[in-house]
Amino acid sequence: MHESRAATVISTTPFDDQKPGTSGLRKSVPAFRKPHYVENFVQSVFDSLSDHAGKTLVVGGDGRFFNAEAIQIILRMACANGIARVLVGRGGLLSTPAVSNLIRKHRAYGGFVLSASHNPGGPDGDFGIKYNISNGGPAPESLTEAIYANSRRIARYLTVETPDVDLGKLGPQSLEGMTIEVIDPVTDYAALMEQLFDFGAIGALLRSPGFRMRFDAMHAITGPYAKAILEDRLGAPAGTVVNAVPLPDFGGHHPDPNLVHAAELVAATQGPDGLDFGAASDGDGDRNMILGRDCFVTPSDSLAIIAAHADLVPGYAGRLAGVARSMPTSRAADRVAEALGVAAFETPTGWKFFGNLLDAGKVTFCGEESFGTGSDHVREKDGLWAVLYWLNVLAKTGKPVRDLLAEHWRTYGRDYYSRHDYEGLDKAAAETLMADLRAADLEGKSLAGRTVILHDDFAYTDPVNGEHTAGQGVRIGFDDGARVVFRLSGTGTSGATLRIYLEHYEPDPARQHAETQAVLADLIAVAKAVSGVEARTGRTAPDVVT
Ligand code: G1P
Ligand code: ZN
Repeated sequence: MHESRAATVISTTPFDDQKPGTSGLRKSVPAFRKPHYVENFVQSVFDSLSDHAGKTLVVGGDGRFFNAEAIQIILRMACANGIARVLVGRGGLLSTPAVSNLIRKHRAYGGFVLSASHNPGGPDGDFGIKYNISNGGPAPESLTEAIYANSRRIARYLTVETPDVDLGKLGPQSLEGMTIEVIDPVTDYAALMEQLFDFGAIGALLRSPGFRMRFDAMHAITGPYAKAILEDRLGAPAGTVVNAVPLPDFGGHHPDPNLVHAAELVAATQGPDGLDFGAASDGDGDRNMILGRDCFVTPSDSLAIIAAHADLVPGYAGRLAGVARSMPTSRAADRVAEALGVAAFETPTGWKFFGNLLDAGKVTFCGEESFGTGSDHVREKDGLWAVLYWLNVLAKTGKPVRDLLAEHWRTYGRDYYSRHDYEGLDKAAAETLMADLRAADLEGKSLAGRTVILHDDFAYTDPVNGEHTAGQGVRIGFDDGARVVFRLSGTGTSGATLRIYLEHYEPDPARQHAETQAVLADLIAVAKAVSGVEARTGRTAPDVVT
C-alpha cells in the first residue's frame, strides 16, 4: 500500500549540529527554521528505524512557537516514509508524559515529542524534537547515535505535497492514504491517573475548606490537563489552576518550575496565610515542583518520600521493586531503598537511562534533582503525576507537607541539597574547566575539614543491556557523606552551562532545620576553589540557584 503514495524526494545537504542531547535535539527557533533543518532531522530518524512502514506513530508538542509548523512537516514526512497511522493531540498539543502514555496504550511504534521543555519559547526562544520508542520512552543512546550519524550523511528526504492537515477537528482523516487520528490530549492521560491514585480521597481533600492549594501551569501544556483533572474531576475550587492557558511564548516567562522561575507561587505558600500546597509544572509537563506552607520539597527528597509512601497509593501498594536516580540527585532515595530492602540504581543524567530499568521491572520510581519524578506508569518523568501522588499522600496521612518532610528527615537523615548553574559560559573555557577537574589530584586530600574519598568521572554500564556511557560528570565525595558534582549541561542551546551540585548529609534531627545555602557554604567554597570557576569565567555568582 505504501508504494502507491506519491512521495516526493527532496535533495538536501547535512547540518553538522543535529546530535541529540540529554533530551532530544534542542536548538533556537531560528536554527530550526533554516531551510530543510527539521526535515533533515526527521528523515534521519526514519532512516535510523527499520520496520516502521505500516505502523502507528504518536505526535504532539507543548504548543510553543513553531509547534504547529513542525507538526505539519512531520505528518507529511511520516506519510512519505510509509507510516500507516498517526495519533495527534488536538491542536497539535500533547504533554510529554501523555505522548509516552499514548504510545504505550495504543501499542504505537514510537512518537515525536515537540518541545524544548522548560526553555523559553517564542520566535527567538527554543524548540526541540525528540523521538520516543515503543516503550514510550526517549530513544536510547544507540538510536540517538544512529540518528546523528544519519544526519551527517543525509542527501535526501521524503515528503508529500499536500495542504496542511486541520488539527482542530477530532476524529480520523486521511492524508494520501495515511490515517491521521486527532484525539483529545487529556482523556487517556486522565484515565491513567484515575487508575493509579485514590481519586476519592484526593477529591475529598481538595474540596475540604481547610485545604488551600494552587497549581501553576506556567502558561504551558499542563494547564488543560490540570484543569480537567484537579478542577473538573476532583472538584478543586475553580481557579486552583493558574496560568492555565498554554501560550506559544509561555507569556514571556521561563516555564521552569523552580524557586527562581516560579517565585510568585513560592511567595503564595509563605507566611501564616500561606497555601497548604503549591505545585507547578514545566513547558511540556514532565517536571514538577512541590511546596508546602513555608517549605519546599527538593526533588531529591520528593523521590525518597514518594518511595517511602508507596503503600498509601493504590497503583503502587505492595509492589515497590526498586528506585533509580540520576547521579547528581541526592542519595535520599537510596536510604529509603536500603531501609525497605529494595534495589537502588544510580544512572547518568537524562530520563532515557531509566527506560531499561523500568522495562525490566527493576525499578518502580525514578527521579532527578532537576524537578523530575516518575514511575513505571509511563517512560517519561511526569509533572502532574507527582502532584497527584503528593496529594494522595497528604490525603491519606492527613499531615501537612512540612510534617511529612520533618518526619522523613528524622527517620532517614536530611540531605541538604542545592544546584548552582553558571549559564552562557564560553564553551572552550567550560570544557577546559571540566578537563582540569577530571585531571586534578584530589583523592585523599583534605578540603574544608573533609577528606576526599572519591574523585572520578562518572561512568555507567546499563545492567540490562550492557551499554556503557562514560564522561557523565566529575564526582567528589567526602568522608562525612558530603558530595560535590560538576557537569556541563546537555540541553543548553548557546554556549555552555556548568552545573555544580552540592550536598551535605545531616543525620542529627537537631540540625535538620537550618537554611540550605548556609549549611552548604563551605562546600560551595570548596567547589569554587577546586574548579576555579570564578577566575576562569569572570563570574562571581551562579546565575540560577535551585
Ligand atoms: C537537564 C537536567 C536533566 C534532565 C534534562 C531534561 O539536562 O539536568 O536532569 O533530564 O534537563 O529535562 P542538562 O541540561 O543538565 O543536560
Ligand atoms: Zn520538560
